[in-house]
This record gives sequence, structure tokens and C-alpha cells, in this order.
Amino acid sequence: MPLQDGIVGPIPDGADPEEYDKLRRRVLWTMPYGLYILGSRDGERRNGMAINFVTQMSFTPKLIGVGIEQDAFTHELVTAGRVFSVNLIAREDRAIIRKFSKPVDVDTEASTLNGFPFHDGLTGAPILDQAVAYVDCEVRDTLDAGEHTFFAGEVVDTGFQRDEDTEILRMEDTRLNYGG
Ligand SMILES: Cc1cc2nc3c(=O)[nH]c(=O)nc-3n(C[C@H](O)[C@H](O)[C@H](O)COP(=O)(O)O)c2cc1C
Repeated sequence: MPLQDGIVGPIPDGADPEEYDKLRRRVLWTMPYGLYILGSRDGERRNGMAINFVTQMSFTPKLIGVGIEQDAFTHELVTAGRVFSVNLIAREDRAIIRKFSKPVDVDTEASTLNGFPFHDGLTGAPILDQAVAYVDCEVRDTLDAGEHTFFAGEVVDTGFQRDEDTEILRMEDTRLNYGG
């Protein structure tokens, strides 16, 4: 819950809210994350977006959780289409991330997202041709998480498209922050 000046509680007893808020943000930014492109699809509407709130949730079944802002277009597509693809990006391709952190230009005829060629995965969600690997998921459950929704997707298809040893992009490869 926001306290004064947009500071979100709870705040430990005796702590200065402003100082604690800054400290908490620094700690949360320090948490390591991968950085992916999330493919989504509902009917003929497709999208891709930069995302770091991604984690495996269980071994049996194979569940992948993704945290998506409720006002993102991707949220609308995943809610309606009940599928998503996690695209693992090569470290050397990190420039792609900025292009997917704003509205995406989809060309269905040419099968491109922002000019990057894609194909449809088993679920129909778009998979970038240049992704090193992909994890294609069907939504099984959702958790309302503040301004985000956490979608639990079961892995229904996955594979490598490039050499398995290709280094995968992580948050620390960029100067970008998300979270905190
Ligand atoms: C480094 C980085 C990480 C991001 N991580 C997430 C995330 O985990 N979840 C999310 O909802 N948005 C995340 N975003 C923001 C979305 O990429 C951005 O809001 C995008 O424009 C949403 O696209 P859409 O409205 O077309 O779906 C991130 C952005 C950047 C730059």
C-alpha cells in the first residue's frame, strides 16, 4: 500500500520511510534476472515485449511463471489467448531489448515483429527466428500481483534454434532496471 509520496509499505518499525524505500529498491535491483522477449497471441493479434519477471515454478508439471503489467497490450493478449512464448536472446543481440520495450510494429504478411522475422510456435505464440531457444507455454493459472498479473504457463514445446552454447542475455548485460 502506498504511504506518503508513493512510498509502498510495510516499513520496519523505526526505519526512515524514504531511506528504507531507497535501500529496498537497491536490494531488489540487485537480484539477478534473465532478460527475454515474451511472445503473445490472441487470434490474429500478436505481440512481443521485453520481460525479466520470468521463472520456472515447478518440475511436475513444468510450469514457467511470467509477471506482466496489467496495462500492457501483452496482458490483454495473454489473458484472452491463454498462451505465451519465452524467447531466449543471445547476449550479442541485446540491442533488441529496447525495441521491445515500447509498442511493437507487427507485419503479419511479412511475419515480422519490429522487422524481426518470427514464426508461430505450437501454441500459435510468435517465436523470433533469431532466438537461441524458446519455451512455448499454455496458461494454467493466474495470480493477481499488484499492478502485475503472474501467469503460470505449462511448457508444451521447447527447443534450440541456435548453438546450445550461445550465451543467453541477462539483465546485467544491459544498463536497464525493472523492478525495485
Ligand atoms: C529491461 C526491461 C525489463 C522489463 N520487464 C518487464 C516485466 O518483467 N514485466 C512487464 O510487464 N513489463 C516489463 N518491461 C516493460 C515492457 O517491456 C513495456 O512496458 C512494453 O512496452 C509493454 O509492451 P506492450 O504494451 O506492447 O505489451 C520491461 C522493460 C524493460 C526495458
